[in-house]
Amino acid sequence: MRLRNKPWAKDYIMENSTFATQNPKNYKGQWKNNVFKNNNPLNIEIGTGKGDFIIALSKKYPDQNFLAIERYPSVLVLSLKKIIAENLHNLKIIVFDAALLTGVFAPKEVNKIYLNFSDPWPKARHEKRRLTNKIFLDFYQIILQDKGEIHFKTDNDQLFKYSLTSFLDNNWKIVDYTTDLYHSSYLVNNIPTEYEQRFVKLGKNINYLYVQK
Ligand SMILES: C[S@@+](CC[C@H](N)C(=O)[O-])C[C@H]1O[C@@H](n2cnc3c(N)ncnc32)[C@H](O)[C@@H]1O
Repeated sequence: MRLRNKPWAKDYIMENSTFATQNPKNYKGQWKNNVFKNNNPLNIEIGTGKGDFIIALSKKYPDQNFLAIERYPSVLVLSLKKIIAENLHNLKIIVFDAALLTGVFAPKEVNKIYLNFSDPWPKARHEKRRLTNKIFLDFYQIILQDKGEIHFKTDNDQLFKYSLTSFLDNNWKIVDYTTDLYHSSYLVNNIPTEYEQRFVKLGKNINYLYVQK
């Protein structure tokens, strides 16, 4: 997501620590007890962008915990403003690069991972940056609980094929997938993201994949 740099973003995030958890590494293994103060399942979205998806999901499942992860402060503040306005008890956000996931979550601490419209990084030399590359799948293996799930949506057909192969090659259980979410039974419960709405308006098919550890 390309956005103009917002020099005030870091200060804004620090001033709103009720929703934007500071120093996330301090909570490794402690998210439920210390941050959410309950023992409900912890679900994370990596690459939250503007936040509509995770906000809607948090409202739908008030008895589960949700953590939005976004690496750019200038993007994160767009979600944070909405999260503050909603005042949800079960949703927090952190500025963090998923490349360091195992520094923030203990083994088996996470219930579900959502990857929505992840950057495709189409050039071969950038393959390791794709969030469905083996490097990331290995992190997900560690932090997900047994039978934990990953839900992945993308408009990008090449990234989708790549991701399907990557999950298969790394022994994930493919529970189901569709290359046309909007003409599938999954549409009923689907929560669209900002990127998704844009691509659907253009008539683009949306790919969806659901895997289990
Ligand atoms: C294409 S946007 C999609 C945003 C949103 N999920 C949506 O569907 O509307 C991808 C987002 O992922 C974030 N992102 C990419 N790589 C990341 C990483 N390694 N860690 C955290 N966030 C990342 C980007 O900054 C960007 O905001």
